Amino acid sequence: MKPIITLAGLMLALTATVVEAEPIVIKFAHVVAEETPKGKGALLFKRLVEERLPGQVTVEVYPNSTLYGDADELDALSKNEVQLLAPSLAKFEQYTKQVQVFDLPFLFDDLDAVNRFQKRAKGRQLLRSMEKENITGLAYWHNGMKQLSATKALRLPSDANGLAFRIQPSAVLESQFAQVGAPTKKIAFADVFASLQNGTVQGAENPWSNIYSKNMHTVQPYITESNHGVLDYMLVSNTRFWYGIPHSIRTELEGIINEVTYAVNRAAEEANQAHRERIRQAGTSQIIELTAAEREAWREAMRPVWKEFEPVIGADIIKAAQTVNRKQRD
Ligand code: LMR
Repeated sequence: MKPIITLAGLMLALTATVVEAEPIVIKFAHVVAEETPKGKGALLFKRLVEERLPGQVTVEVYPNSTLYGDADELDALSKNEVQLLAPSLAKFEQYTKQVQVFDLPFLFDDLDAVNRFQKRAKGRQLLRSMEKENITGLAYWHNGMKQLSATKALRLPSDANGLAFRIQPSAVLESQFAQVGAPTKKIAFADVFASLQNGTVQGAENPWSNIYSKNMHTVQPYITESNHGVLDYMLVSNTRFWYGIPHSIRTELEGIINEVTYAVNRAAEEANQAHRERIRQAGTSQIIELTAAEREAWREAMRPVWKEFEPVIGADIIKAAQTVNRKQRD
């Protein structure tokens, strides 16, 4: 008997061929160098996806603002022109005010405290706080605590008076520097080195790995080890794109993200310490370690920012963040 090929059967076979022929492409853009915690995380994600979902998903990684930069990456994500980003938590201000909790100065004692907050219910909730804007948070990735760098030695808050600092686009960070009499300029990460070099600004705040990988230590003779705030990331995707991925593939991708998140977060502090050491060895900047009293003076000076932003961030979120510190203070 001759086999009967029905139209439906033919369509099914054709669809299967098309699905097989066209893997899902995930473009992952970011603004930092490849040897940073985020840069390494993006490459690990690509490797694991292509090992475990061969022919089904391919990942293209674009570091150093080569595809999109600070000015346009979130807009590109909302249009699904890029499918994964990991902007720093300071860059979501126009989509949610709550995530600004991470920018409050001296809120978290260290990266372990940040980690605990990110794992608690309130921290997890923030991953979902932008879904109305078509942005889904998939994980938090660490970079590290920020250090203050400048053209002059910063030991006390009054030393910053009148120096212009580069900031990320965050009203909290603007206010943080206003408390110590320092004007600010919002500048995209890709332009930070040049603006420090040509004197547009005299200071900045960055984790060690960003300072080192962008050579900022060569144009900032003083770096104060202030650990005054955190620079972490939210790995985000376009909500419609993400939930449109077939369930079995999405589950595999979520498993990979958990694995990469664990690896990035475990290695971040070590990477920052290694970069601190390389900066020390380069000898281009003096690393200033603060005494407990000096650090407390910075904390006191910047502390009014918490009250100022409590109405927009939410007292409950700030309280939840405070309780993760081992030492409780007000
Ligand atoms: C910055 O703009 O300073 C950071 O957000 C860059 C980054 O992604 O680490």
